[in-house]
Amino acid sequence: MNQDELKKAVGVKSVDFIQSDSIVGLGTGSTVYYMIEELGRRYQAGEIKNIVGVSTSSRSQKQAECLGIPMKDLNEVDHIDLTIDGADQIDKNFQGIKGGGAAHLLEKMVATNSHKNLWIVDQSKMTDQLGSFPLPIEVIPFGCQKTFDDLKKENLMPEFRLDENGKRVLTHNKNYIIDLKNGVIEHPHILADWLDHQVGIVAHGLFLDIVNTVVVGYDDGPKVIDNIR
Ligand code: A5P
Repeated sequence: MNQDELKKAVGVKSVDFIQSDSIVGLGTGSTVYYMIEELGRRYQAGEIKNIVGVSTSSRSQKQAECLGIPMKDLNEVDHIDLTIDGADQIDKNFQGIKGGGAAHLLEKMVATNSHKNLWIVDQSKMTDQLGSFPLPIEVIPFGCQKTFDDLKKENLMPEFRLDENGKRVLTHNKNYIIDLKNGVIEHPHILADWLDHQVGIVAHGLFLDIVNTVVVGYDDGPKVIDNIR
């Protein structure tokens, strides 16, 4: 199977975890795209009834609305039962990096308001240690050069993320993305704690102690792995 087929397989499989009468967080990305497609199909077929979706990006919102899935804003729900999202890397301790699609602020808000979190990835995203995928940081534009310099002083190898026209990528909230390219992250909790305390950083892509279940796409089919920490 190629990477896209693996993504589709896990996206479809993950819908088995969505129950009728529930509020579902819809992540963002090319793997989640397949999950939303399948959810829309099963919802239209009446196989899953009475659900409400809460999205993490305008892309997922639009796709879900087009499929007729009832949607609410995070402010309009008192909880989310299950959020299904992709990830950029997952290590052997079930810690993750997200934000390759610049949506990690909204994704983190939805994830931390969810009773359960399920991630869907192809096998290439599984790793022993995080860091070969650059760590995305969302920063506010005001004083961002200062934030950048602070990251540089810490040897975190920051780079502003640019679009195809060489302009700085803007997030949903019109912030910038800085990718940290310093390689293997030996101590994710220590780094996350430091980043959490930097003024000007809105959200980083370390998603620690968040995921409950991972569905990984392998050539012989999707494998469900529970995080039993
Ligand atoms: C969006 O900002 C990300 O966190 C995505 O969830 C992550 O990059 C996975 O995306 P793909 O499924 O497209 O690889």
